[in-house]
Amino acid sequence: MEYLVKSGSPEKQRVGCVVVGIFDRRKPSTQAEALDEASGGLIASVMRRGDMDGKLGQTTLLHGLENLFCDRILLVGCGKERDFNTRAYRQACQAAAKELDAMGGVDAAIYLTELNVKGRDDFGWQVKQALLTFEDVFYRFEACRGPDYEKHSRKLSRIVFQVPRRSDLPAAERGVDEGVATANGVKFAKDLGNLPGNICTPTYLAEQATALADAQKTIKTNVLEESDMESLGMGALLGVSRGSRQPAKLIVMEYMAGPKNAKPIVLVGKGVTFDAGGISIKPGAGMDEMKYDMGGAASVFGAVQAAAELGLPINVVGVVPATENLPDGNAYKPGDILTSMSGQTIEVLNTDAEGRLALADALTYVERNYQPDAVVDMATLTGACVVALGSHAAGLWSNNSPLRRSLRDAGELVGDRAWPMPLWEEYQSQLDSNFADMANVGGKEGGSITAASFLHRFARKLRWAHLDIAGVAWKSGKEKGATGRPVGLLVQYLIERANTGNA
Ligand code: BES
Ligand code: MN
Ligand code: ZN
Repeated sequence: MEYLVKSGSPEKQRVGCVVVGIFDRRKPSTQAEALDEASGGLIASVMRRGDMDGKLGQTTLLHGLENLFCDRILLVGCGKERDFNTRAYRQACQAAAKELDAMGGVDAAIYLTELNVKGRDDFGWQVKQALLTFEDVFYRFEACRGPDYEKHSRKLSRIVFQVPRRSDLPAAERGVDEGVATANGVKFAKDLGNLPGNICTPTYLAEQATALADAQKTIKTNVLEESDMESLGMGALLGVSRGSRQPAKLIVMEYMAGPKNAKPIVLVGKGVTFDAGGISIKPGAGMDEMKYDMGGAASVFGAVQAAAELGLPINVVGVVPATENLPDGNAYKPGDILTSMSGQTIEVLNTDAEGRLALADALTYVERNYQPDAVVDMATLTGACVVALGSHAAGLWSNNSPLRRSLRDAGELVGDRAWPMPLWEEYQSQLDSNFADMANVGGKEGGSITAASFLHRFARKLRWAHLDIAGVAWKSGKEKGATGRPVGLLVQYLIERANTGNA
């Protein structure tokens, strides 16, 4: 899809479709009014007949227009004008995108971007949000179909976002650039997530990192093999990997476009390409969804790619411990004691709490090899986080308040939310072990918090944050599929780091 920005009145657009908003109680937006006037009252008559009331998310497509240059008008319900906030705006964009996805025209002019959104007054944001919402709706995963499968064909190939004044164009253009790079990162993450475990193995992820370095000259990739991990003493990550015939990989991607001596921001993503639970095996129902257990890794790939595409003047490192977690005669067992790279020993009370083991060694690797400014890890870590927050927000833990705030604000801005959770020392005793420095599980109370507290033991010296994305990385049910979250949050955070250098 080609995305452009322009400034001009709706009745003059020579395009396949003009998209305008209607507010609740049949109140046309300024742009809808202009079309109504030019067409001699067409929109007013449609509303009189009761086809469009302006309810949020409602849509009506009008054809056969006289006195107008466009082939179609898409009316989009925006709800009550005084309630038109960021959430309503995204919902209106989503409704428009669903119609455009199935429409016959080759181009469209979007006027929703000219509406006043409560609490926002920059058109760059509006354009970027519209673009991200559109790309989310347009996404299809068709990589695993057979030769007779008829791929989705969309006629639409060009979308123009309209802004009120010529002076709004620079901001709008920045919105397109950031939106396209972010959307590409989201798509990358979705594709990796949706690929099944028999294709998307640790080796496959490592190959993707190599391919990324080939495509983006600013990215350097280094892959550590199991023998390297052994020399480094990564007993925790290797413990998880023992039950798998696929070799584990520790993938490192460096994007160093910032000042030479500037400390990097390090993104660490859980890359369990399939999590059967190991010897503490999971129930069979729904186990297929554990192919998404590399969602954290996928978001690191997406965010690093986006940073490179935008040419952000910062240093970013992506680190992905990639492994499978399977039961096997050689697999690690409940009661086993692993020695992590940090030297701390871990009693494995449940082999299904494997993500924290893989991440523990990755965090130590980061601490030893970089002097990071900030470290953010992403992981589909606990079912308990899904119970706590559902699928609307990722859980957010941090040992640094400004970092926590920056991540939360970045997520809020792009509609990819994370919500703060406690990292209090009181939770640590739940991880006490009779035989080792710690156990890998902390009992049934506060499961997502004890998981974060476990990671904290490997991040004490770092300015660190942890995102539990178990509830947000994919959707279940009929619409099952990867969401690409939290790429949006991460890219926004990196953009702001590039702009301000703070937190
Ligand atoms: N990958 C899972 C977490 C998960 C479960 C994500 C369900 C999304 C949906 C993780 O490795 C896991 O198995 N966690 C256990 C931890 C428990 C053994 C302490 C869990 O949440 O049950
Ligand atoms: Mn598990
Ligand atoms: Zn897992």
